[in-house]
Amino acid sequence: MPSGGFQPIDGGQMVVRTAVTKTLVLSIFTAILSSFQFGYNIGVINAPQKIIEQSYNESYISRKTPESGSIDVGLLRTLWSLSVAIFSIGGMVSSLCVGVVSQWLGRKRAMIVNNFFAFVGGTMMGLCQVSHSYEMMILGRFIIGAYSGLASGLVPMYVGEISPTHLRGALGTLHQLSLVIGILVAQVLGLDLFLGTMSRWPVLFWVTLIPAALQSVLLPFCPESPRFLYIVCEQEGLAKTSLRRLYGLQDVSDALSEMKEEKRQMDTQQKVSILQIFRSRTYRQPIIVAIMLQLSQQLSGINAIFYYSTDIFFKAGVDQPIYATIGAGIVNTAFTVVSLFLVERAGRRTLHLVGLAGMIMCALLMTVAMVLQETIPAISALSMAAVFGFVAFFEVGPGPIPWFIVAELFSQGPRPAAMAIAGCTNWTSNFIIGMGFPYVADLCGPYVFLLFALVLLGFFIFTYFRVPETRGRSFDEIANAFRRRNPSLLDHEVKASTELDSLGGGDDV
Ligand SMILES: *[C@@H]1O[C@H](CO)[C@@H](O)[C@H](O)[C@H]1NC(C)=O
Repeated sequence: MPSGGFQPIDGGQMVVRTAVTKTLVLSIFTAILSSFQFGYNIGVINAPQKIIEQSYNESYISRKTPESGSIDVGLLRTLWSLSVAIFSIGGMVSSLCVGVVSQWLGRKRAMIVNNFFAFVGGTMMGLCQVSHSYEMMILGRFIIGAYSGLASGLVPMYVGEISPTHLRGALGTLHQLSLVIGILVAQVLGLDLFLGTMSRWPVLFWVTLIPAALQSVLLPFCPESPRFLYIVCEQEGLAKTSLRRLYGLQDVSDALSEMKEEKRQMDTQQKVSILQIFRSRTYRQPIIVAIMLQLSQQLSGINAIFYYSTDIFFKAGVDQPIYATIGAGIVNTAFTVVSLFLVERAGRRTLHLVGLAGMIMCALLMTVAMVLQETIPAISALSMAAVFGFVAFFEVGPGPIPWFIVAELFSQGPRPAAMAIAGCTNWTSNFIIGMGFPYVADLCGPYVFLLFALVLLGFFIFTYFRVPETRGRSFDEIANAFRRRNPSLLDHEVKASTELDSLGGGDDV
C-alpha cells in the first residue's frame, strides 16, 4: 500500500465518551472520499494497460507522416512506465507541502482546494484520447499524484482531529479501508464488461471527477478541525462551536482541556527540522530504521502487483488476467480489515517479520510457477495463489507497520519532520518501482520475483537485527533498545540523546 502519512496526533489522557453524531459521520465520509480517489488512481491504470498502449500507438501514428510507421516498442514502454510512475513524483512533491498547506489554509479549506487538482488532472487524462496526446495523460497523472500526496497527509490529519479520543483509532483506519476499496473499484470498472474497452476507457478517468465533485459539495457542510481552530488559530470560541457540532454536546470542556494540555506540551517541545534529524546523532538510528521500513514496503514489489498485475498474470499464462487482478484487489481489501484487528493486538516488529517472511515464500512460489509455466500450463493457478498470498502477507506487515513504527519511534518534537522524510522515501521508492518494473521484468523474465524475494530477505535480516519492538513502549525504552542493538553508541550519548529527545531539541551531539 503506498498510503501516506500522518498518524493521528496523541491526545491527552482524558477519555471523552460521546455519541457518534450525524455531523461526525458526514465529515468522515466526506474526508475519506479523498482516500477513495487516491486508491482509485493507483488501481485504474492496471487493467486497461493494453488498450491504452494501443491508443498511444494510434495517437503516435496519427501525428506522424505515414512513412514513419507505428510506435517503437521501446518508446511505448517508456511512455507507459512514465504514465504509471509519474503519479509518485507528483505525490512526493506535494506530500512535502502537507504541513505548510494545512497550517496556512486549515484542514478543510486545504481539502477543498486540493479538489482543484483532481478536476484538472481528471480532465486532462479524460481528454488524452480525443486530443491524440499521451502528454496529456502523463501530465494528468502527475497532477492527480500531487492530489494524492496532499490527500495522504490531510485525510488522516483531519479524521484524527475531529474524532473523539475513544474512537480515534477505529475511525483512523477508515482512510486505509477507503483507499483499498478505491483500488478495487478501479479494477472492476476496468473490466472490458464495463469501461475497459477501446472506445470507453477515457470514461475511466472522467470517473475521478465524481468523488471530487461530491467532496467539494459536501465539505462546506463539515466543521473545520477544532484542533486546528484552537491550537493554530487560537480561536477558542470557534473551536467550541466545532466541537459541539461534532460531538452533539453542549458541554465540551473535557475535549477543550485535552487540547489545552496538548498545546501546552507543544509549546514546551521545540520543533525539529528535517536537517536537524539528519545531523543529530540522537535521531540517526531511528531515522535509518524509519527509512529502511519505508523502503521495505515499496521495494517489496507490491506496487508491481497493483500497477502491473494484469500484465504479470497474462505472462504467467492465466486465462482471465483481469479477473485475477480483481481477485488480488478483493484479497487486499479483506486483509486490510484483518490487519486492522491484528495491529491493535500484536507487536509491530513481529507482524513486520511475519509479513516479510510470507512475502518471500510467495515470491519464491511465483518464480517456480513462472519458470514451469511453459511445461505445465495448469501451474498458472499456483501463480495466482502466490500473488494472492503475496498481497495478503503485505497487508499483515509491510503495508501498515512502517507508518506505525515511524510515529512511535519519534516524540512530538521530531515527529513531523520524521514523517516527512518517511513520506518522501515512500513516494520516491514507489516511483522507482513503477518506472523500473517493466524493464526489470523484461530483463529477468520469469525470475523477476526471485529478485524481490532476495530484496525482501535483506529487509527481513535488517528488521530482525535492527528494529526494536515499539508497541506499548515509551521513547526512553525505545532509545535503550537501540543502545542494546548498537553497542557502538556509547552510554553517555544515549543519555544525552534521551534528554534531548525529551527536550525535543538536538543539533550535533
Ligand atoms: C501499433 O499499431 C500498428 C498498426 O495498428 C501495429 O502494426 C503495431 O504493431 C503497433 N505497435 C505496437 C508497439 O503495438
